[in-house]
Amino acid sequence: MDCPIDYKRLIYTSCIRGSLSDGDVAAIFAASRRNNGLDGVTGILLIENRRFLQVLEGPAESVDLTFERIRADERHRDVVVLDEQCEAERIFADWAMAGWPGERPANAVEKLGRLLRHAPAEVARYFPSLNVPQPV
Ligand SMILES: Cc1cc2nc3c(=O)[nH]c(=O)nc-3n(C[C@H](O)[C@H](O)[C@H](O)COP(=O)(O)O)c2cc1C
Repeated sequence: MDCPIDYKRLIYTSCIRGSLSDGDVAAIFAASRRNNGLDGVTGILLIENRRFLQVLEGPAESVDLTFERIRADERHRDVVVLDEQCEAERIFADWAMAGWPGERPANAVEKLGRLLRHAPAEVARYFPSLNVPQPV
């Protein structure tokens, strides 16, 4: 999908392949923060119940190139795109890749939930475990 003026936001989920060590998680976040900072990509990565759930946002070309690399990564399989939209604004503008590797999951979940409080409902709904308040 081309987004000539705005940003692209892509949300996908995938299954962890084999065992994922703390070192693997640290390496994923290190590569994400290094590359995404250079490429203008921001987002959020949740690791939970043997699944990844990631939001990538930025210029369409950067998001596409980043996602191509991620899709080919051997550390996961069954990558499924949940949503792909052109947007005028970023949700996670200050986060090269938000997530808290090395923390107890409960802490990471609490912090990601805080970060998602200001996300539109159509994004927050993909993260039910983060207890993001939904508009009534
Ligand atoms: C679930 C998951 C999420 C990832 N997210 C990103 C990301 O946001 N940005 C990124 O550059 N690499 C990400 N990676 C890593 C890429 O697949 C790839 O290993 C990395 O971009 C290679 O970077 P390098 O050539 O600088 O080592 C992710 C990998 C996995 C398994």
